[in-house]
Amino acid sequence: YPALLAHEAFMPAPQNISIVSTNMKHFLTWSPVTVPGGAVRYSVEFQGEYERDYANNSWIPIGECSAIRATQCDITDDISATVPYNVRVRAVQGTQTSCWTTLNSLFNRITTSLTPPNLSAMADGHHLLVKLEHLGPAFEFWIFYWRKGQENWVRRVFSSATVHLETMEAGTEYCIRAQAYVEAINRSSDFSETQCVKAAVMSVTITLVLFAGFVVTVLTLPFLAWKICQICKYSCCPTVGMPDTLKLEFPARLLNFRGEEEESCDMAVRVLPPEELLHLWIHEAL
Ligand SMILES: *[C@@H]1O[C@H](CO)[C@@H](O)[C@H](O)[C@H]1NC(C)=O
Ligand SMILES: *[C@@H]1O[C@H](CO)[C@@H](O)[C@H](O)[C@H]1NC(C)=O
Ligand SMILES: *[C@@H]1O[C@H](CO)[C@@H](O)[C@H](O)[C@H]1NC(C)=O
Repeated sequence: YPALLAHEAFMPAPQNISIVSTNMKHFLTWSPVTVPGGAVRYSVEFQGEYERDYANNSWIPIGECSAIRATQCDITDDISATVPYNVRVRAVQGTQTSCWTTLNSLFNRITTSLTPPNLSAMADGHHLLVKLEHLGPAFEFWIFYWRKGQENWVRRVFSSATVHLETMEAGTEYCIRAQAYVEAINRSSDFSETQCVKAAVMSVTITLVLFAGFVVTVLTLPFLAWKICQICKYSCCPTVGMPDTLKLEFPARLLNFRGEEEESCDMAVRVLPPEELLHLWIHEAL
């Protein structure tokens, strides 16, 4: 060995260096270097397209992976663009330093393996909710759902972890599956397994409450209509007489309008007593 490299001769370089990348999380791993005489530490550096092509082929040390004992390094934050990266690692023991070991081929995050998202669908009352695995800010989720037995599905896009999909029809079964999508690399995962959720059949209590609400509405409507008519009458057709000067300038037809309005109001609203109305409604319903 040349004298300059003498200090490197005794220290073997790390072997089997590779990047494991799943769901946009990237880890560099290597086999441990075993030599007598104490702990071996490792340091990792990376090089992006910019450093390679425009910065004199320079390397950037990864702060969190300098002189570490572990044989893996989380390089997720350093791989910040969808371009080819090179990474290298070397072993250090005391004053001895190994050669750098670099990747066999450059790494591009576009090759990350995307797993189908874990999802759990549930019915909360009549709300269809979906809880998705949190995969980080780079991810959005494409959720596909449909009524069981029907072909047409709906696709919606979400980025949060728990979402409200739909108000369910009582007694209907809904099925859901999802894909994870990463815009930065324009790729989506495979579909998750399909999950189906059946909406509860409406309970007796809810039915009664809804029925009571309906009856109250039906009974108050005529009163409301009458009230509105009263308001109309006072605001649109005030009973205050017009000054003579004005009367002279309006054609007779316009002045008569007030009388007609009152008449039509009277005709439109027939205020029924509640009992009669309930009778009427029950007859119609049966
Ligand atoms: C590298 O990996 C291979 C197979 O995975 C293994 O047989 C070999 O021992 C490893 N090399 C070192 C230096 O650990
Ligand atoms: C590029 O690297 C060479 C050799 O390492 C060095 O001599 C030169 O000054 C560097 N140039 C710049 C611009 O850093
Ligand atoms: C993403 O990929 C699809 C095909 O997989 C392509 O049709 C689309 O144009 C791409 N979008 C972008 C923004 O590159």
